This record gives sequence, structure tokens and C-alpha cells, in this order.
Amino acid sequence: MNIIKVENKEALSIKAKEMFVDVLQNTVAPILGLATGSTPEGMYKLLIESYQNGDISFKNALAFNLDEYVGLAPDHPASYRYYMQHKLYNHVDTKRMNTFLPNGLAEDLDAECITYEKHIQEAGNLDFLVLGIGENGHIGFNEPGTSFESRTHIVTLTENTREVNARFFDSIDEVPTEALTMGLGTIMDAKQIMLLVQGERKREILKKVIYGEVTEEVPASILQKHPNVTIITDLDV
Ligand code: PGA
Repeated sequence: MNIIKVENKEALSIKAKEMFVDVLQNTVAPILGLATGSTPEGMYKLLIESYQNGDISFKNALAFNLDEYVGLAPDHPASYRYYMQHKLYNHVDTKRMNTFLPNGLAEDLDAECITYEKHIQEAGNLDFLVLGIGENGHIGFNEPGTSFESRTHIVTLTENTREVNARFFDSIDEVPTEALTMGLGTIMDAKQIMLLVQGERKREILKKVIYGEVTEEVPASILQKHPNVTIITDLDV
């Protein structure tokens, strides 16, 4: 794993933006994998600036998000579709038809998972995947105990994850109990991965991910086995 240590949150966003821009400028029709959450927000802001400056375009890109809540409509402010539209897509030249999230409103959620996975594979797998990490080591919504072989699937969110994410909702009762997420196998098929880890509360888990045992109890530890992972972090570990 390639580890890039930066000074602070702002420097992390700049470095992440630079890596992202490099991919967009050097890949003819990039297949992107994108994350939501607080960590990549600054990067998305800077990408919008790069687009406005004419440095990058998303017009030939396909973008697949890691995950989506079950039961939230795309216009629900806590849905990940809403996040992507407002923090990136509404401000750049992505075409709506080229941006994908698992459909958490699908009547048949199992079928939706199969379709989403197939769509990624038919696109040729992800060229560049942006990841954040949960305090419990989850990537996407792959909670501890998820099989390393997993493909896009339905998950029951842990209480910890629901508590951590309650800040995006009016109350914890409104946080969905389920989500759809790319699996760890899907993630490992990405050609290049950029993991963003920011803030003290992630220190313990980052140490485990880099130096600990590769175990399904720490989902992100599987990244030790990926040939092209860059971790950008403001933590000295
Ligand atoms: P965060 O979320 O960027 O808001 O910390 C990361 C995650 O839970 O995957």
C-alpha cells in the first residue's frame, strides 16, 4: 500500500483531487467508483473548481457509487443520490444516464444487487475507486464479518453505523436499517483504489488496516492484498 501523509483535512482534499484529476486526464473513458460521507466532500468541491477552470471533463466517464440506503427516495436529503447530485453531478458535465447508485427503492432488492454488479462488470470493472472508511473498518457498507468474496448485496447496518450516520437525519429513528452496497469482491476488482482517512477517530482502525491481520472482522484489511492502493491520510500511524 502506498501511504501519503498530509498535514490536514484541506491538504487531504487537494491531494485526493490531484489523483482524481490525473485519472480523468489520462483515461479515455474512465469507469469511476465513488464514495459519499464527510471525508470526500472537500475533494468534490475542488473537482468542481477544476471542471470550471476547464482542466477536466466527466463527459466520457461512467460513475458507480459504492452504496445506497434502502427505502430513501433520490430526493431525500440523506440519500446518496441526493448527495452526489448536490455535491458533484449538478455542477459538472456528467450525464445523469452515466451515473449509477444501487436503487434502494427497488421492489426486488436481490435482483437489483445482481443487476448493479453485472452492470459494473459489463462496463469492464472500476478503473478508479474512491473509498472512505468507517470507524469499524467498513468500506462501502461492508460491515465487519462480510465475506471477502462478496458482491453487491443487501446489508443490515450495525447500530454503530446508524449512530454515526444519524447526524445526516433528524433523528436516529429515521436512519434506515438496511442498505445496498458493492461487495468486497467488487471493490477488490477495481484497478486503482484511493482510500481517504481523516481525523483522530480513525487512527485505531487505520493502524489495523495497514499493520493488522487480514481478517473479515476488519473489512478494509483486505486492501493489503490489492496491487494498487493509495491511502491518503492526515494521521501519523
Ligand atoms: P465519513 O464516512 O467520511 O463520513 O467518515 C466514511 C464511511 O463511513 O465510510
